[in-house]
Amino acid sequence: MKKNRNFFDPKWTKGNELKYVKQVLENKSSVRKNSFTDRLEKAFKKKYKVKYAIAMNSGASCLHAAMHAVGVKPGDEVITSPYSVLWDAGIALIMGAKIKFADVKYETHNIDPKKIEKLITKKTRAIIPVSYHGLPCDLDEIIKIGKKYKIPIIEDNAQTMLGRYKGRYVGVRTEMSMFSLERTKHISSHEGGLLLSNSKTLTEKARKFGGGGFKNLSADKSKMAAVIPLEFQSPDFKRHDALGLNYRISEFCAAIALGQFEKVDQKVKLRRDVANLYSKVFKKFPQFQPQYVPKFYHHSYFTYSVKSPFSKLKDWKKFYNFHIKNKGDDFYAMMSPVYSEKIMKKMGYEKKYKKLCPVTEEIQPRSMLFKTNYRSLKEARKFTSILEINLKKFFNDNITLRLK
Ligand SMILES: Cc1ncc(COP(=O)(O)O)c(C=O)c1O
Repeated sequence: MKKNRNFFDPKWTKGNELKYVKQVLENKSSVRKNSFTDRLEKAFKKKYKVKYAIAMNSGASCLHAAMHAVGVKPGDEVITSPYSVLWDAGIALIMGAKIKFADVKYETHNIDPKKIEKLITKKTRAIIPVSYHGLPCDLDEIIKIGKKYKIPIIEDNAQTMLGRYKGRYVGVRTEMSMFSLERTKHISSHEGGLLLSNSKTLTEKARKFGGGGFKNLSADKSKMAAVIPLEFQSPDFKRHDALGLNYRISEFCAAIALGQFEKVDQKVKLRRDVANLYSKVFKKFPQFQPQYVPKFYHHSYFTYSVKSPFSKLKDWKKFYNFHIKNKGDDFYAMMSPVYSEKIMKKMGYEKKYKKLCPVTEEIQPRSMLFKTNYRSLKEARKFTSILEINLKKFFNDNITLRLK
């Protein structure tokens, strides 16, 4: 049989992923005693130097469990970024809370701490800064605000695996922090998430919420398997001391995620190296402004984001079509401001926040997000060279746009 070289995507098979999945399928006793879920949580705790970690079936599940743990309830207010995905706001809304959008900074595209402070009221129950594209937020200032007003911070670090702020990883200083293991992220098991914290109380609440409310769950890890059969087989055994959903990660996903996490440094480094190639290209085109990385912030480059000179949709599309037609690789637009999504508009959020978020309004339509998830630097070099050629040609042919 002819070998199909594309059958296995090397993203999933270069490390221990297949070996670990096979061990789960074989139902090895060693795996049952020391599950991949536990091993994955341990690996995160060790790398991030935090006391607690919960592996869940998605980043969104982690956010929901975190908001539950800090006590978000109907009528509360949650502050988050509008230059983001809908997850954070959507979950808070499902929980009956209201959203307050704090505009982002022009340079970094991340939430502006000064805007956060202005939105705080007695009802503010959580602040959720999103470190977008992989760039850490202004953590010192945000933590200061959280302490001043006694409001918990939940970091959405879905895109910021191994991002660092002033020498320390993101996600280790606030009440809770989540990472996503969704298909496109730095490390992935197609779906999955990790929730980190140094608080025993918050972690226990989050774990019970995501684990069906079983009383034997604790902050440290699932104690379910350790219960003595004689005890739980008794008719008067009571299992639940909390209400919860099932956000548990499957052992198959945990096995893959562990295999991936063993290579996390290398994977993040590759994305950073790819980002350097883009930086070299865009230096030659000052009409494009790459997301600014402040000193001592260490970007993990989930994507390479630039503000293009194209404020009009037709110009944005003109370059996109030209680039794709000329063998360029696909790139992405930034998604709509959260408050302008159809469902949010219907709830009145667009009307209120469009005016209050001028920076988001200015940068979102212009943003271009370039891929950093190439399998090799060689592949990235090929596509960044094409990008450079296309930019040169495009602006030579479109003098009016070049002058913008
Ligand atoms: C910034 C951000 N937050 C939250 C999420 C949700 O994570 P997940 O897809 O793992 O549920 C994502 C995922 O795409 C994300 O990019």
